[in-house]
Amino acid sequence: MQSQLSSNRHEYEPERLGENNRIGRNWSGIEQFSEIRKQKMIKNSVSGKSEYIFTKADFGPDFKWGVAAAAYQTEGAWNTDGKGESIWDHFSRKSGKIERDENADVAADFYHKYAEDIDLIKSVNFNVFRFSLSWPRILPNGTGEVNQAGLDFYNRVIDKCLSVGVEPWITIYHWDLPQELENQGGWANRKIVDWFSEYTELVTREFGSKVKNWMVLNEQFSFVAGGYLAGYMAPGRRNIRGFLKSVHHSVLCNAEGGRIIRRNVAGANVGTTFFTAYIEPLNQVESNIEAANRIDAGINRLFIEPVLGLGYPEDALPVLKKIHKYFEPGDEERMVFDFDFIGVQYYFRAVVEKSIIPYIQAKEVKASDRGAIANEMNYEIYPDGLFHVLKKFRRYKGIRNLMVTENGTCVPDIVEDGKVHDVRRIEYFNDHLESVLKARHDGVNVNGYFVWSPTDNFEWDKGFRTRFGLVYVDFQTQQRIMKDSGLWFREFLK
Ligand code: FCB
Repeated sequence: MQSQLSSNRHEYEPERLGENNRIGRNWSGIEQFSEIRKQKMIKNSVSGKSEYIFTKADFGPDFKWGVAAAAYQTEGAWNTDGKGESIWDHFSRKSGKIERDENADVAADFYHKYAEDIDLIKSVNFNVFRFSLSWPRILPNGTGEVNQAGLDFYNRVIDKCLSVGVEPWITIYHWDLPQELENQGGWANRKIVDWFSEYTELVTREFGSKVKNWMVLNEQFSFVAGGYLAGYMAPGRRNIRGFLKSVHHSVLCNAEGGRIIRRNVAGANVGTTFFTAYIEPLNQVESNIEAANRIDAGINRLFIEPVLGLGYPEDALPVLKKIHKYFEPGDEERMVFDFDFIGVQYYFRAVVEKSIIPYIQAKEVKASDRGAIANEMNYEIYPDGLFHVLKKFRRYKGIRNLMVTENGTCVPDIVEDGKVHDVRRIEYFNDHLESVLKARHDGVNVNGYFVWSPTDNFEWDKGFRTRFGLVYVDFQTQQRIMKDSGLWFREFLK
């Protein structure tokens, strides 16, 4: 194992932003792609823009087309049939944490409407539904007593998927830790490795005969940095020690989860997902380039590199050296796992400059301050960034296969006469799919694209304000209306 670790280290040279991230460098595949592209340009009758028309067939017959959702954001039924409290149930009840003090007690009521929603997914011609399991619905106290009604619910969801010919892809953890475990320190307590293993053993044994595609964690960066450092996500803690411990424990859980799936699920396709962003310095001033490298290390490198045996990116972020205090013997090896696929989740470009913010000494120059086109969360809409992120991940030799496990946006929906017009979302998907195709033509092994999200749902600290669905949800009546973007996908995937 040791030799594998050190040989990997030699193979990988960290990328320097500002030098390698320029568009148009010796891509023979791309030149070819541009030629094909020119021949296929047409004028879009809705937007008036000239755009490239590609088809589903251009992505190849084995490409996976899916939608992605998460338990807390969609299910509701927060205390139904024996479910325990999660950190999000708890956090959302504290005043001022969520916009308008909303919560996901009911959310999109997927707990009761799952069959209708899976039919909708099928009707849009997707062949994959990625969803997460709620840990406290299955183990109300996090460990110990099992809630059979929780297992029954997910069996119904899985069976429904299989009956209509949609593959169920399970994410084991998408941020809704049992509150009982948070009371004992949550991700900052090393015991989480045992708690998480117990939960993962249970669900892989329960569902492994029917479900073959698994993802261990959803975006460690988001729940660890948002929950334990910045504090705007549950459990709302802010301290560097808790953060560093949570980083390390989540890395151990990610690899351990992979090993458990491999052991318990015959023929499993084992993956995990990472938050990514395309990072660029504000300009070519050295201090801003360095700031961008630090942010890049914190966002894009921190969680993938230990899995690949490269350790933490201390070269760019010296504060990470402190993590070694929390190492136990054998951790270097325990952090490593050979995943079958890595899920890349991409939403925006971040432009970065130097700042005095402790540890990171860098900050993002927000899209609105740059006059950049952004969505309703002030995320810059920057399709080419997805291409760059895929290329960046391709540089890691240890990654076999990439999937875009989330991509989507919140832009205005115009609801009119039982229809929902969302032309900007259609453009968004068209342009991001083009980036994926460009990456494939450039030799990146990316084999799937999952839309976030099938229906509108509860968007964490933003509550119900920002809608990402292909299907509009009226949260008063729970009525569903297919948006124009859903209809666009139905055509595209036909
Ligand atoms: C991702 C999360 C997902 C959703 C989208 C918009 O970072 O994984 O739950 O909130 O952003």
